[in-house]
Amino acid sequence: MKPVADLIIFNASELLTLSGGSSGPRTGEQMDDLGIIENGSIAVSKGKIIACGDADKVKEEVSTTAGTMEIDASNKVVMPGFIDTHSHLVFAGSREDEFEQRIRGASYMEILGSGRGIFKTVSATRAASKEELVKKSSGHLDTMLEFGTTTVESKSGYGLTTEDELKQLHVMKELNRVHQVEIIPAFLVHATPPEFKSPEDYMDIVINDMLPKMQGMAEYCDIFCEHDVFDIEQSRRFLTTAKKLGFKVKIHADQLTDMGGAELAASLHASSASHLEHISREGIDALANSGTIAVLLPGATFFLGSDTYAPASQMIYRGVAVALGTDFNPGSCPTESMQIILTLACLKMRMSPAQAINAATINAAHAMDRADTIGSLEAGKQADIIILDAPGHKYIPYHFGVNLVRTVIKKGKVVFGA
Ligand code: NIG
Ligand code: FE
Repeated sequence: MKPVADLIIFNASELLTLSGGSSGPRTGEQMDDLGIIENGSIAVSKGKIIACGDADKVKEEVSTTAGTMEIDASNKVVMPGFIDTHSHLVFAGSREDEFEQRIRGASYMEILGSGRGIFKTVSATRAASKEELVKKSSGHLDTMLEFGTTTVESKSGYGLTTEDELKQLHVMKELNRVHQVEIIPAFLVHATPPEFKSPEDYMDIVINDMLPKMQGMAEYCDIFCEHDVFDIEQSRRFLTTAKKLGFKVKIHADQLTDMGGAELAASLHASSASHLEHISREGIDALANSGTIAVLLPGATFFLGSDTYAPASQMIYRGVAVALGTDFNPGSCPTESMQIILTLACLKMRMSPAQAINAATINAAHAMDRADTIGSLEAGKQADIIILDAPGHKYIPYHFGVNLVRTVIKKGKVVFGA
């Protein structure tokens, strides 16, 4: 007996399966392989993919009934939902004033140093109720979903006290209950709050008081390792303790200066290291050897008006597995759209469209230790599928600044579009 499909998508001009990458992240030339099937079909039952590939093969493997939903994807690309592996989703307020100050010449770190920047968002987030944060974040998740993101990582870091950090993480738990986009929570040590004398004093509280209370609330721990924020030794101390408590770890590394953050991530076998605009040659080799995934965030580089993008081509050439994220946050990258990130990755970091799509799907799934369930279209995997109004995958980063996503399917259900 053939299994019965409850949803079948057929006639895709390009079906991007990304298959064969579940056992390890794609590196080097593998990053140019999207597993493309022309005129492909995909069949879904009970939230999972049951067949995927050549139209005739899928027809042979599954049967349909009057209840099967059929979607004609002629002239469209069908691919896994985007996985946004770095975001600061839960916050209150916005920072367009700072945007204007930066246009007039102020730097991101000057603004932060004068107690604005991240601290402005901290004040607003502390003042907001859980309900207000759920409502606002839910709106951002709606936009992400419409733009094709089906799973997102979300960091805390705008509370800074135990209570306010836990509030952000509780909001993420609630969002996971009420919203279709899956959220993977991370506890981020983002800045030393003004009520502390030094980062060192704050770190004592973070390690002894906060970290144990984040158990069961956050899957990952992350820290902003940067000059005048947290140095390498503070970052090492935090991440090492987090690992001992059973958290997986990641890091904001080498964003504005080369701090040796990539080397630290590699030595701790972190799941990922993010940003990396100023990574050194040693840092690149350390990531390649450790298997730590480089999460590149060209949206933040662009929005901060810098010309120094992470050296993606060199990283790929030297064997680093590269993933992409939006870094969605109110200061350095207020966009929910992974599509614009693909365009920036191609234009500013010279990634090929195929490399960028790999980085935004299967490698992003690896960066969040979830490649066994999401990130590619293969029988047995969760049916997180998007359909884009594009004749082929190269068109996706090319036709930029608009939403090409026409249909989003999450766990086998159409959650956006027709
Ligand atoms: O990833 N670099 C530090 N944190 C964020 C920005 C947060 C903010 O400005 O509110 C980032 O770019
Ligand atoms: Fe970030």
